[in-house]
Amino acid sequence: MILSIESSCDDSAISITEIATSRLLFHKKISQEIEHSIYGGVVPELAARLHAEALPKILEQCEPYFSKLKAVAVTATPGLAVTLVEGVTMAKAIAVALEIPIIGVNHLIGHIYSLFIEKETVFPLTVLLVSGGHTQVMEVKSLRDITTVAKSMDDSFGESFDKVAKMMHLGYPGGPLIQDLAKNGDRLKYNFTVPLHQSPLIAFSYSGLKNAVRLAVLKEEEQDSPDFKDIAASFEHIATKHLTMKLKKYFKTNPPKTFAIVGGASANLYLRSQIEELLKPHQADLLLSELQYCSDNAAMIGRVAVDMYKDGMFSSLEDLDIAPRSSL
Ligand code: KG4
Ligand code: ZN
Repeated sequence: MILSIESSCDDSAISITEIATSRLLFHKKISQEIEHSIYGGVVPELAARLHAEALPKILEQCEPYFSKLKAVAVTATPGLAVTLVEGVTMAKAIAVALEIPIIGVNHLIGHIYSLFIEKETVFPLTVLLVSGGHTQVMEVKSLRDITTVAKSMDDSFGESFDKVAKMMHLGYPGGPLIQDLAKNGDRLKYNFTVPLHQSPLIAFSYSGLKNAVRLAVLKEEEQDSPDFKDIAASFEHIATKHLTMKLKKYFKTNPPKTFAIVGGASANLYLRSQIEELLKPHQADLLLSELQYCSDNAAMIGRVAVDMYKDGMFSSLEDLDIAPRSSL
């Protein structure tokens, strides 16, 4: 079995995965959403302190598995430096104490493998990763062969939902809150410009849309009883249209056979429905993670770790270090 730790942002999670079968034997996650909610975003130092409290509590529950562990895995990149360190330090201590090898996992590959929890992998695969930290399209041929073909030049898709929710004083994380508010809104009420719509670049950008939404929010706030549902609906519509327009362009030269959406924001129902429409002419399969594994978790880290273990992809204790920025 492999014990895997995730602490790249605001979720403390540990899993135990059986190597032979990829079966998930244990998974526990403690989220910090409530603690960060009052700040409208993740406060790194607070997150690190909460990991230092939560991870040992979860680890205690894993003690029955200790004698069966063949390796310990941990998210080492990308993420917040001060929170990655919490997980990596714990993983190193476990590796030394139990005399087992350590595996440093890339969190983004973790999100890709959230599709394969207790399942066989399916490659090749075109993946759209939409999370709080990333918006990127990847061509995945195998665990070792992943190419990023498009990414955001500034904010990420999920982050833009968080920032818009903050402007509307809704709380954190913004994705589910905006999705909920948008349900009863008019998607066409505000004619926000689709980012980079005239650019030939296949890339993403959310800072301009965010600022356009800010102006609309400020204007609405001048009303006696401000109502943000139409702004939320129009924002969600344009944020999604930006993704589908760029993907459509990309598909012209690279038609997908199997397409997947992963990451916390892949839970967005409007995004899912629009991507389904986009894939129809290509007759491509759409893969999605189970809702509980879309956001950060250690089950996905454990699933990557099983394949890395089988491929001998270990790190040395001296060399394994955190890398806040991703190299994918
Ligand atoms: O993957 P994740 O848990 O953490 C990172 O690796 O960043 O993603 C969290 C992000 C947050 O920005 C959150 O607002 C967004 O995913 N999110 C959503 C939805 N649910 C979560 N964004 C849009 N619609 C949703 N339903
Ligand atoms: Zn993530």
